[in-house]
Amino acid sequence: MMIQLGIICGGKSTEHEISLLSAINIIKASDQTKYNIILIGISKDGIWQLYDPKTAFINAEDPKKIHLNNPIDRIVVVPDNPKGYLIKLSNPKEKLVLDCIFPILHGPYGEDGSVQGLLKCANIPFVGAGVLGSAVGMDKDVMKRLLRDAKIPIAPFICISKKDQTKLHFSDVIKTLNTPLFIKPANTGSSIGISKVINESEFNRAMEEAFQFDTKILIEQGIQGREIECAVLGNETPKASVAGEVCPKDSFYSYQAKYLDDDGAKLIIPVELTTKELETVQATALKTYQTLCCEGLARVDMFLTPDGQAWVNEINTLPGFTKISMYPKLWECSGISQVELIDELINLAINRNTLCANIQTSI
Ligand SMILES: Nc1ncnc2c1ncn2[C@@H]1O[C@H](COP(=O)(O)OP(=O)(O)O)[C@@H](O)[C@H]1O
Ligand SMILES: [Mg+2]
Repeated sequence: MMIQLGIICGGKSTEHEISLLSAINIIKASDQTKYNIILIGISKDGIWQLYDPKTAFINAEDPKKIHLNNPIDRIVVVPDNPKGYLIKLSNPKEKLVLDCIFPILHGPYGEDGSVQGLLKCANIPFVGAGVLGSAVGMDKDVMKRLLRDAKIPIAPFICISKKDQTKLHFSDVIKTLNTPLFIKPANTGSSIGISKVINESEFNRAMEEAFQFDTKILIEQGIQGREIECAVLGNETPKASVAGEVCPKDSFYSYQAKYLDDDGAKLIIPVELTTKELETVQATALKTYQTLCCEGLARVDMFLTPDGQAWVNEINTLPGFTKISMYPKLWECSGISQVELIDELINLAINRNTLCANIQTSI
């Protein structure tokens, strides 16, 4: 019997377009004899709509111009027992029952536990981290406090709320942190609102910039190391892939380098590391994944310093899944094709759901 697979893409975050590209790739790479795809697109203003996967995307080849076509209808998620379903607004009698949903949404509103909470309440199995893993993975302040507690190397940082902005001066910061500093909003992605600074005037400008995107920001000490990424897959017994490297053209991996400049950064997949370095990177990725309560998949980004230490920069619980993205490429280089990877992610989602369904909810 065909598995009814929902794919949710788009969304309200600045990574809307990347999410559409990720969805196209997942639709293409998934086994057509196994899955019947039900495509849900979320518009930039947050409207959930049903699309025909064959005609859903306009300018599908252009990351800057890609957008969603006309939808079939608006849809509503209906929680039910034992399984939730979707209905079309114009025809509420017809139930769209899904076996699993792959929410390939990046950034706030998709990767932060909010969609995960909705699907959990609705009783629909979904790919990736649950509410807790998604939420702590999105908030860089909470993420880093948990990593620090687990004694995983991270850049020393100060976290500050908007209400305390005027109380913190550059001269205070450099008493505890060495320059260069990275100033970043706690909850964005894609390098949005992030600056690298070395002096007071840059610092003041960077604080203003970061506070435009969040009410909480991080001031981090810069780590001088190679930017190494490792893919993780699994629930209770996750495994780590080979490593990849990002080599930005400029002084850091900025928004410009990620999305605007065609040769803003070079991705080396896989990257040659010594056996010892690869072991450190993989062990750090797995420890990070488990410390942050992740499930399904995540990409762990690190700085590998010349002394062989892996400093964790961040985790991405729904990493880019486009045809050129690091996550699926790292698994291809580790011997898992994209078809197999999607099968595995769906199995992990369904297994987790079965496990949770068996938990006693009353005494
Ligand atoms: N502490 C740091 N030391 C050195 N480089 C950093 C540091 N923090 C961020 N960067 C640079 O900025 C980029 C984006 O920062 P990151 O924290 O990964 O934010 P995002 O979630 O937006 O990707 C990184 O890929 C890296 O190039
Ligand atoms: Mg990053």
